[in-house]
Amino acid sequence: MSELDGRVCVVTGGGRGIGAAVAARFAAEGGRVAVLDLDGAEDTRARLGGDARAYRLDVTDEAGVVDVARRVVDDLGGVDVLVNNAGIGRLGPSMSFPVSDFRASLDVMVTGVFLCSREFGRAMREGGGGAIVNVSSINGLVAFPMRLAYSAAKAGVISMTKVLATEWASYGIRVNAVAPGNTETEMVREAIDQGLIDVDTYLRHTPLGRFAQPEEQAEAVLYLACDRSRYLTGQVIAPDGGWTAFGWVPWSGDPDAPSVGR
Ligand SMILES: NC(=O)c1ccc[n+]([C@@H]2O[C@H](COP(=O)([O-])OP(=O)(O)OC[C@H]3O[C@@H](n4cnc5c(N)ncnc54)[C@H](O)[C@@H]3O)[C@@H](O)[C@H]2O)c1
Repeated sequence: MSELDGRVCVVTGGGRGIGAAVAARFAAEGGRVAVLDLDGAEDTRARLGGDARAYRLDVTDEAGVVDVARRVVDDLGGVDVLVNNAGIGRLGPSMSFPVSDFRASLDVMVTGVFLCSREFGRAMREGGGGAIVNVSSINGLVAFPMRLAYSAAKAGVISMTKVLATEWASYGIRVNAVAPGNTETEMVREAIDQGLIDVDTYLRHTPLGRFAQPEEQAEAVLYLACDRSRYLTGQVIAPDGGWTAFGWVPWSGDPDAPSVGR
């Protein structure tokens, strides 16, 4: 049986990367997907085919979010699942970080999550309930230098996840989050090109020894969106290859290496 048979699933930032992988996974599970993005929503819709829809949207624009939420309900008959995935990566040293980049980070990843949750959440309540999955980051859980605004925004996403989970449970709306580790998307490729991620160092701190694929994040998002997770709300799961579990010590990576310090 398909996990999302006929359910209306809204994915912000679905034009590329993790959002596009989520949209594809949802469509494969019978979801009727609405792809929302500043750019690329139509490309994803064309790849999905079927009854997928594309909407051009800046999640920071209140009037735009109100309008798209109304159009999605008119076009597809309601909303069952919302994935707040749209995000931007503005990184750099905190001592010289431009306030415009700080504000933009909070606007997209905090205000945008709030606005989409408010508008699509209201439609969910009218339909008797639903599931919201927010895309945070391991940066919202633990400290990374050079990522002040991004980390603050992603910690905000986790906080909003917990608040909305408690506030909207009586409407039948579950709210959970994923906190991905580094995943092979253009956002990460750009950060590597700018020298903001040292791949070898990152991978030495990653027990599973590799970056995630967008499809692996989509699998976790699907779990939180579908009925298999029906008793979960207010939770954060981190598909990060073990990154946040690993308190850093220099080691060879060989579990059979002779013990030290005897
Ligand atoms: N790639 C990673 O390693 C990683 C790790 C942890 C968390 N995340 C988070 O996952 C999400 C997706 O990241 P990705 O790697 O696929 O990035 P990406 O840059 O490939 O895709 C992000 C998408 O969001 C859209 N977007 C940006 N601002 C928007 C706005 N104002 N309104 C609407 N759409 C907007 C972009 O157009 C783009 O299509 C983000 O929230 C990101 O912070 C990514």
